[in-house]
Amino acid sequence: MCGIVGYTGHQPAQKIVIESLKKLEYRGYDSSGIATKEDKLVICKKEGPIANMESILPKSSSNLAIAHTRWATHGVPSDTNAHPHTDGDNSVAVVHNGTIDNYLAIRENLEKEGYNFKSESDSEVLPILISKYYAGDLVEALNKTLADIQGIFTIAVIHENHPDEIVAVRHETPLIIGVGNSENFIASDIYAVLKYTQQIVYPEDNQIVRVTPESIELFDFDLKSIDYEVETVEKYTEVAEKGGYEHFMLKEIFEQPKALQDSLTELLVDSPLERLGLNWKIGSISIVACGTSYHAGLVGKYVIEQLTAIPVSVGYSSEFRYAAPVQGVGGLLSSRPLVVLISQSGETADTLAAARSAKQQGCHTIAICNVPGSRITREVDGVIITKSGQEVGVAATKTFLTQMQALYALGVHLAFNSGSLDHPQLKLWESEIRKIPSKITQVLNNSEAIKALVPHFVKAKSAFFIGRNINYPLAMEGALKLKEISYIHAEGYPAGELKHGPLALLSKETPVLAIAMQDHTYSKLVSNIEEVSARSAPVITLCQKGDQQIPKISDSYFELPEIDPVLSPFTVAVFLQLLSYYVAHELGTEIDKPRNLAKSVTVE
Ligand code: F6R
Repeated sequence: MCGIVGYTGHQPAQKIVIESLKKLEYRGYDSSGIATKEDKLVICKKEGPIANMESILPKSSSNLAIAHTRWATHGVPSDTNAHPHTDGDNSVAVVHNGTIDNYLAIRENLEKEGYNFKSESDSEVLPILISKYYAGDLVEALNKTLADIQGIFTIAVIHENHPDEIVAVRHETPLIIGVGNSENFIASDIYAVLKYTQQIVYPEDNQIVRVTPESIELFDFDLKSIDYEVETVEKYTEVAEKGGYEHFMLKEIFEQPKALQDSLTELLVDSPLERLGLNWKIGSISIVACGTSYHAGLVGKYVIEQLTAIPVSVGYSSEFRYAAPVQGVGGLLSSRPLVVLISQSGETADTLAAARSAKQQGCHTIAICNVPGSRITREVDGVIITKSGQEVGVAATKTFLTQMQALYALGVHLAFNSGSLDHPQLKLWESEIRKIPSKITQVLNNSEAIKALVPHFVKAKSAFFIGRNINYPLAMEGALKLKEISYIHAEGYPAGELKHGPLALLSKETPVLAIAMQDHTYSKLVSNIEEVSARSAPVITLCQKGDQQIPKISDSYFELPEIDPVLSPFTVAVFLQLLSYYVAHELGTEIDKPRNLAKSVTVE
């Protein structure tokens, strides 16, 4: 969702913020804009890709700029609704990520006072309020504005009277400061500034920031000065490039063996439970996440319950607050419950809200996250950082695999801790987990065979993905991947559920992808495939190498390398990602930036 960058220093600001803004493109956006300080403030904004805005940029000599990519919430994507927004005199320019919930009432009052509005955006009230309250100090004017507004926001402001100053604030949406030599940056995330600096300040929620080339100041809402620390971001968090692949998504799919390898060390050594503060007998676990991360959580449930006998519930973050209190808190179970929050970005508003609710209920919280320093990692009691490297494609791929890997490692160590696994069994599991990268490499090496399945899907209006047990979440993930990048409607179903309704939709135009691993569910899945075939729907089956039965009952099939069925979600996932990619590629969709979607979903 919306991306914000700002620069104040000794270099030409326009070029720097445009480059930085491009590093935030992956978040998803529909228009972009920039404000620089020439003799007066100059605003340039345009609907569409950043290149549209770049093509109309005037020459600039400014050393100060703020810029923005907008993901429309209030008002259609358009030049006028794009940010920065200004007051009537163009003395203040503002970029905003989030939503101002009470903007209509504020706007009505301001209109009565004689102020005019140009756009439909909720954000336009901000420059008008700031300008109204401005009496020489931009921090004070922003602080007064904050007293009027409700919602969630990161706001960055420049004023024509302050040629080297950016003032910003965060409230439940991201903001970081990049620290340079006689220059400073603000941005929505570290990827925007990594080219220039690895020195980062992470302001907390409800802190106001003032940066100039030589100074960084943080204030609370009483305008008391706050101390801050400068942290150095690890080197591996490199800014992603396509590296010869046609799309980031394809590159990221092929990076998965490395992502799993890089993440292993943190997961399997150095007493992970101790590091996570998990030193008591855990009575229950709740896993909370959105989208693909939720699907990783569902896989984690099967693994952890099988290994430890600890009951695990999995819920969507956006529904967590409406659920009954977490089992064990103030109830009959005496042990402190564990809540595991999964978010690759660490900035998903729904998951952050769930984390806060879990903490309020007295739960121990840990996060599985791919972005060090992100919001969620700073709010929970323990953190597992997956080391996938930056994921740019909006559709999550490599972070999904490393999230699953983290949950397997967690399950194995919890089981060892509770005595359900002995030391040799722990070592055996660890060695199996270490083999996953080579297994998925075999799937990647067979991508031509996956491409051959594309004709089953390209003309379909709708498709079903079915699986049982640990591969039921994979059916859901396969359907999600297909719909988000190819725009073909798809549903993931437990294979046994088809006959309770969806079978009515099957026809020869409705492909059904079945995941049939050689586990205790196999014979039932074979029956489900027969039911589908009997309705003339094409069946494409994922089976294990050497399966004799599946080729006879499927229209097409793909053989996965031999692997313990409990580890099959990894190989299955890679197949499903590639299948969706090749279908979308054939259909010519915008694979890395699917319509309407954002990578970092910072509103609830
Ligand atoms: C789907 C996808 C989304 C995210 C979801 C959660 O491919 O990427 O469904 O998984 O928005 O995002 P994070 O993990 O950043 O909390």
